[in-house]
Amino acid sequence: MDSFALIIFGITGNLVQKYLLQALYDMAEKGLLPPKMSIVGIARKVMNKKDFKKYLYDVLHMENIHHRHPIKQNIFNDMANRLHYIDGHLDDPQFYKRLNKFLDTLTKKGINCSNRIYYLATYPDLYSHVFENLQKMGMNRQKNGYVRLMIEKPIGNDLKSAQSLNKLLLGYFSEDQIYRLDHYLGKETIQNILTFRFSNDIFEPLINRDYIDHIQISATEDFGIGARGGYYDMVGALKDVGQNHQLQMLAFSTMNAPSEFSNEAITAQRLKILQNLKPLPQKVVFGQYEGYTKEDNVSPKSQTETFYALKTYLENDRFKGVPVYIRAGKKLKQTVTEISLVFKNPQNRLFKHITGGTEANILIYRITPNEGIVLKIATKGPGHQAKLDSEYMQFCYKLDPHSHYIPDPYERLITDTIRGDQTFFNSAEEVEAQWAFIDPLVVKKGHPHIYKPGSWGPKEADDLLKADGRVWLEPSMDFCRI
Ligand code: BG6
Repeated sequence: MDSFALIIFGITGNLVQKYLLQALYDMAEKGLLPPKMSIVGIARKVMNKKDFKKYLYDVLHMENIHHRHPIKQNIFNDMANRLHYIDGHLDDPQFYKRLNKFLDTLTKKGINCSNRIYYLATYPDLYSHVFENLQKMGMNRQKNGYVRLMIEKPIGNDLKSAQSLNKLLLGYFSEDQIYRLDHYLGKETIQNILTFRFSNDIFEPLINRDYIDHIQISATEDFGIGARGGYYDMVGALKDVGQNHQLQMLAFSTMNAPSEFSNEAITAQRLKILQNLKPLPQKVVFGQYEGYTKEDNVSPKSQTETFYALKTYLENDRFKGVPVYIRAGKKLKQTVTEISLVFKNPQNRLFKHITGGTEANILIYRITPNEGIVLKIATKGPGHQAKLDSEYMQFCYKLDPHSHYIPDPYERLITDTIRGDQTFFNSAEEVEAQWAFIDPLVVKKGHPHIYKPGSWGPKEADDLLKADGRVWLEPSMDFCRI
């Protein structure tokens, strides 16, 4: 693999601490970083080499639900040697001169800085300064190598701002240089949906309106917003995870088969789903957990939602009339992320008169925890009496002897960026289609319904399904346990 420089704008930010540095550590441990590859971190804080090394040490040793394995001293040293830090203000043109000079120094040490990846982990209002200054210095131009830009959500705050940001980006980089990152697309469990659906022939004929009664997508978390009040209070649950991760989950689980396994073909199918979603502003519920307004950096009068639930439809032939219910929230009863496809017609069964005889079959893609793909089925309870048991036919990562670990999504996505593969990144059109769906839902938000921490959210979210004679599925902890 060719050597390159990874330049991280905003290395002291939350996402870098939570995901990116851990992923880079894992890549170093697995030998996925070329020997002569360097990382340049940028932030405002003045830190000398020793301070920065301590920062790196502290971040890697922080309690982190995404990264629980021990940090090896030799790998830490390797990382510390690759990582450099420059402090500076991103709106200061002089800073870019220093950065350029620093990259020249690295080049002299044998690092191929003609190949560079810029990673934007900074405030969106600084983007234009970054791009403009990079351009002034000719640092966005590809000369004898590649220049790629990784950019995290939020890509805008609504359709209009997303369009402006996409336009801004395209003023400095071409679409094939822009890697819009939604870390859900890097999740092994999400990517497996494509393999499961399009490498087996027995399920796909059933995944349509003739057989599916409805779809549920849940991303519930039992923890609050932690130290992220400043960011979270500006966005709320719908824009934080609904606009991106959950719409992509829906796209992966409902899209038609791509004509081939390529970036263009897969993105085109995801896009079709996103463009065919029907916003139903009267079918959205917003909630806020009790105590939210007392969190740090949250306005005491905040009406930001920490929970939302919605109903939508896909306006395509395949799923016409099949309701899709989506919910997400903080401080709920359990941390569970899953997609459930609930099948129709349990009333036609032979054993419908027996308890459990009319339970629907459900295909579940479980993203977190107990990752796997399972099918809820009815079986005969052993013994002399006619009795039905609900069981799961299951593929579980934890039980697969060949799958020792699930790679971190950031590890996957950085690797894809190095390879120049955009399959699991969002195109400008996808992001805009996602906003086009969300915008009408937030026009008349009103006061969120207050819910108790540890519950499943406000009662109004249950009413949304009750009105259709349905209920939210209680996530099962019975499958894929170790
Ligand atoms: C992030 C959101 O994008 O995704 C967080 O900002 C959320 O609020 C997180 O907790 C969920 O991701 P994961 O990988 O922990 O399921």
